[in-house]
Amino acid sequence: MKALVLAGGAGTRLRPITHTSAKQLVPVANKPILFYGLESIAAAGVTEVGIIVGDTESEVRAAIGDGSRLGLEVTYIRQEAPLGLAHAVLIAADFLGDDDFLVFLGDNFVFGGITEIVRRFTEQRPDAQVLVTKVGNPSEFGVAELDREGKLIGLEEKPTEPRTDLALVGVYLFTPVAHTAMRAIEPSARGELEITDALRWLLDGGYDVRAGEISGYWKDTGNVADMLEVNRLLLETLEPAVLGEVDPDTEIVGRVRIEPGARVSASRVVGPAIIGAGTVVTGSYVGPSTSIAENCLLRDSEVEFSIVLADSVLDGVHRVEASLIGRNVTVHVTRRVPVAHRLVIGDHGWVQLPN
Ligand code: TTP
Repeated sequence: MKALVLAGGAGTRLRPITHTSAKQLVPVANKPILFYGLESIAAAGVTEVGIIVGDTESEVRAAIGDGSRLGLEVTYIRQEAPLGLAHAVLIAADFLGDDDFLVFLGDNFVFGGITEIVRRFTEQRPDAQVLVTKVGNPSEFGVAELDREGKLIGLEEKPTEPRTDLALVGVYLFTPVAHTAMRAIEPSARGELEITDALRWLLDGGYDVRAGEISGYWKDTGNVADMLEVNRLLLETLEPAVLGEVDPDTEIVGRVRIEPGARVSASRVVGPAIIGAGTVVTGSYVGPSTSIAENCLLRDSEVEFSIVLADSVLDGVHRVEASLIGRNVTVHVTRRVPVAHRLVIGDHGWVQLPN
């Protein structure tokens, strides 16, 4: 079995962060989201991985390299434009050859991994297999209808009146018959070759398409709220450690990880939280569910339930909540400060708050 990981796309929902960087590389708990997916593929015993890349190819290559660090053999496949998930499979046909394959959306997160799913597919070997999970807002997803045996019998894309509450998760497993389906379909109204159309083609042709329900948690991290939620959940499993310097005037409470070279003084850090290598925190409060990346400065500031990317500065800011702050951002305050700020600031942003 091979894996095809989709790390192209436009990432419009995460702008402005994705103006300058790949959305699959935004870190959660200080590790790019894409790494978790690749690790779960490696853990499932799949080592040959094709990564679909678009405009952010060089950045993805720089982060993943040849994949050997993750125990993978990575081949990069350039997609000239985000023309759909089925288009990505089409252009990977040479790489995939006659092997069974799984498709993994690079910005998706499956808690508990995919080992069991891959094992079941290999054992039963239906023509294709999708994964579904119960959601509260099915009309925002591809919605699946199953029969009693778990065979897929219907599929609707973002229906206004969903027939079930089972959303399609961004992991698909296929036998090579899928290539015929990908070649047979036409672009949708939004001009993309849709994987759901390919699945429907298989269903209409009488192929065996099964649906496995995953109990583990799944998130498409396409937007800021989902990103913060995955960050929160991941931090709850963080290995606590103080590897940097913490002065006696600092209080550390709960599950906190302070990476090597970080310096924390006269501050209060309440976990779960992570403070990246080389970051300086002074006179500040870092609250639960917060990831501060490498080489940041937090001075006289308060931040909680947020992600701060590398090389950013918060100076005198009370207080930042439910926010995603890009790389190289400076937020500082001149005089009087308001009670709370909610921010989504792009890489290299610069903010001066009113007094
Ligand atoms: P989406 O989240 O569906 O699309 P997008 O990346 O364009 O994001 P947005 O909706 O915010 O504009 O894509 C799911 C994953 O698949 C994501 O990691 C990007 C990737 N992808 C490709 O690699 N090629 C494609 O043609 C498409 C549509 C997506």
